[in-house]
Formats: sequence, C-alpha cells, structure tokens
Amino acid sequence: MKNYILALDQGTTSSRAILFDHEGRIGGCAAQEFPQHFPRPGWVEHDANDIWTSQLAVARQVLREANVRPAQVRAIGIANQRETTVLWERATGRPVAPAIVWQDRRTADQCDALRAAGKATLIRDCTGLELDAYFSATKLAWLLENVPGARARAERGELCFGTVDSWLVFNLCGAHVTDVSNASRTMLFNIHLMRWDADLLALFDIPEAVLPEIVSSSGEIGATHASLFSSPIPVAGIAGDQQAATFGQACHQPGMVKNTYGTGCFMLMHAGSHPVVSHQRLLSTVGWRLHDGPCYLLEGSVFMGGATVQWLRDGLGIIEKSSDVEALAASVPDSGGVLLVPAFVGLGAPHWDPYARGTIVGLTRGSTAAHIARAAVEAIAYQSAELLTAMQRDAAHPVVEVRADGGAARNDLLMQFQADLLGVPVVRPRVTETTALGAAYLAGLAVHFWASKEEIAAQWQCERRFEPAMPEDRRAALLARWGRAVERSRGWDV
Ligand code: G3P
Repeated sequence: MKNYILALDQGTTSSRAILFDHEGRIGGCAAQEFPQHFPRPGWVEHDANDIWTSQLAVARQVLREANVRPAQVRAIGIANQRETTVLWERATGRPVAPAIVWQDRRTADQCDALRAAGKATLIRDCTGLELDAYFSATKLAWLLENVPGARARAERGELCFGTVDSWLVFNLCGAHVTDVSNASRTMLFNIHLMRWDADLLALFDIPEAVLPEIVSSSGEIGATHASLFSSPIPVAGIAGDQQAATFGQACHQPGMVKNTYGTGCFMLMHAGSHPVVSHQRLLSTVGWRLHDGPCYLLEGSVFMGGATVQWLRDGLGIIEKSSDVEALAASVPDSGGVLLVPAFVGLGAPHWDPYARGTIVGLTRGSTAAHIARAAVEAIAYQSAELLTAMQRDAAHPVVEVRADGGAARNDLLMQFQADLLGVPVVRPRVTETTALGAAYLAGLAVHFWASKEEIAAQWQCERRFEPAMPEDRRAALLARWGRAVERSRGWDV
C-alpha cells in the first residue's frame, strides 16, 4: 500500500492540505478560503476557530478524495502563516480573542514608542528583526492589555500564546509547542542562543507561563487525537511557511534564493549556519533546525503581493477571479505609465513604513482597468526587485538565480517582467506548492520517509526558466521611476 506525507499549509487567506508521495509528487490537494476581518482601518483579524476548522476540513477532504486512508499517512508536516498571534485557554482550547494577523498595524504606535526609547538596536541584535508591528510581540502585549482578565490568567498559566503552528498542533495533538523558525518571528526569541529572551519578555511585559515550548523543525511531536482521523497520525514537522518554501525549493547552500508569491512576497536567501547581519534593513531569521544544527536565512518581506490581485477582485471589482488578472494585464502592451504602490498595510522591507498607504500615480484620460491590472501585477515584481537589490548588497555570495513559487508564480507575464527587473534568471520548479512540499520534507525526514536532504534536493526539477531580456538602461529607468512612486506613498496615515 502506497504511503504519503500530509502537508498542512495554513496561509493567510486559505487553508490547504496536500499529499506527497515518496517521489515528492502531489497525490491530492484540497483548499478552502476562510473569512478575513477588517474591523478598523489597519486592523486585520482571523477567527482562530475558522483557521482550525478549515484546516481540519481540507485534511479530511484530501484523504477522502484521494482515497488514502489515515494509516497510509506516515506523518503530518505543518507550514503556516507566520507572526499571526493566537491566545487561547489551556483547559478548553477556546480562543479568548480574535487572532491578530501579521498584516495588522494596530501596534504601530507602541513600536514608535519603543524606537523613541532607543530599543530598536537591542531588538535587532537579539532577534534579527526590525522593530515593527508585523511581528508577534506587540500583538501579544496588546491582547494581554486589552482582553479583560487576560494578563492575570496568563500569569497563572491558564492561557496559551502561539503562532498558527502552535494553535494547529495544540488542536491536533494537545502539545503546546512552536518550532524555532516560527519562534524567530515573535520578536521574543534570541536567534543566537535559540531560546526565549528574558530581556525581551521583560521589555514587552510577557509572562513566561504563556509561551510554548520550542522544538526543532523536524522531529516527532505527538500523534493526532483519536477523534480526528480513523487512526492516529504522527505530527513530525513544523516551519513558518516562508522557511518551509525555502526548504521545499531545496535552497540548501549559502547564497541560494527563493521568492514566494503568496498573499505577500517573501524573498529568502540561505545564509549558512550563523546569522548574517543585514545593513539593508532585511531580516535575519531562523530557517529551520534539523539534527545537524540550525540554518539561518536573510529575508525580505513585502506585505502585499497576491493580495493586491485580490483587491482588484474584491475591492475594485475589475476582475471576477484572481486568475483573470493575467489576461486583463496582457491586453495592454504596458501599464501606460501607471504605477500602483500597494502599501495598503504600510510597507515592509526595505522601507518599514507602517504609515505608507496604497497609491496609484500616472493616471491619464487614456488609463483603463487593464492598465491598473498591469500596474498591480508589475508592482509585485517591483517590490521583489527592491528586495533582491538589498540582498545583493548584504550577501557574501552573488545571486545567480531566483527560484519562484506560490500562486502568482504561474503567471508567465509576471515571471518574465520579474526576470527583466532583477537582471537575474527566475526559475520555476515543477512543483510550485513548495511551501507544502517543504513541510512534508521536514516531517518525512523525521520519520525516515526520506533519508537525507541530499535525497530530497535531487527531486527538485526546473519547469521553466525566464531569462532577463530588458536592456540595462530601461531597467534602471523603470526602477528609478518606481522609487519615485514609493516616495509618494510614504508617511500618508499620520
Ligand atoms: O509572514 C507572513 C507570511 O508567513 C504569510 O504568508 O503565504 O500567507 O502570504 P502567506
């Protein structure tokens, strides 16, 4: 009977479950979108129960549809939207408040106050992160401050904090844990010592009793509760989705880079077995920890990638479904001078401006919905190009190619424009579900479904390579014009 690894890919807008066989081929896939809540400008929330129920539903659905029995699943691996902050009751598993999503800006003021108090350097040195509302620390502090009774209950050990990996594992098998890659996104974790940092806990006033235990990214944590599947399945791998995608793209050597086009865009470079200090406001973050020790990454995070296309669909209504964007954008030869800076939730790397807001410039009487769609697609590439420029300045190794994945990596127009703007080839692998694949590999290594990193790296195959074709002067002119557009989006919401 054929065996599989089940990957749970819990993203910002959808929960996915994908079965992988020993050759790294997809044996079945199920996905479900779940509601997003925007209760105030700049706020983004999820109902943690929606996260869990949608994730469980797709896990059961993929098994049913692929006709695979739980006994054939050797392990579950989890990849998750990172930083999103959940607080729940230890005894009942009930969330005490809506989850605060990574894109939420409600704690920007608190970050300003910490910056004014001179804390940014301490935070960067210890966590590798920029002081920003993106990360979990200020979100958790906000919940402890604003949910009635939460602080006292947290101090008594009655509440559990976790990012989405912790929340899923707690529901799957009752353990309160997080892996090193997710921990490194909380702004409470010392990436050098690989443990919660007492100074940061004091700075953010976080009681230790609320924190999950830290585990490696690959290793058996427990087995699923008897009520969930007809036979228990070991939970054996966890990584934040971007780290999982880097692993799934087999970026195992220093200098290798991947870019994921998901809700946001996340470019990560393998940095070796020690953290690299960025001078370009990129993040130094933990990739994963296996039995041979930790791997560190350099990361550029862009907050609005595919979510910009979602906005064209849901906010503007100029397309019916996200996949329509390619045809609409391709119906014009270029954006007609229109630029869209999707700073809807501020700007991430390398600007880190929580007060920037979305901006469209260059409109003329001839501008159409197609030009705006084209500008939205191009904005994804422009933002990624800024990341690569920063990365090339920081890195000890020249970047020879960028491995692309995520939903929008299927858009050929975007991939070609991306290669043109980067001046570096963009390579799309055979399996673009690399986030899920990375989680599967981490779990599969733990249960010896795969023997080694070398074995899984050999499974990586190129599907298409996009070579840069734009003349250098044109590229420089476009990037300079983009820089001017970004300036206009900044400091808007003050
Ligand atoms: O840091 C946020 C990131 O993990 C979200 O990923 O795939 O939901 O865009 P995604």
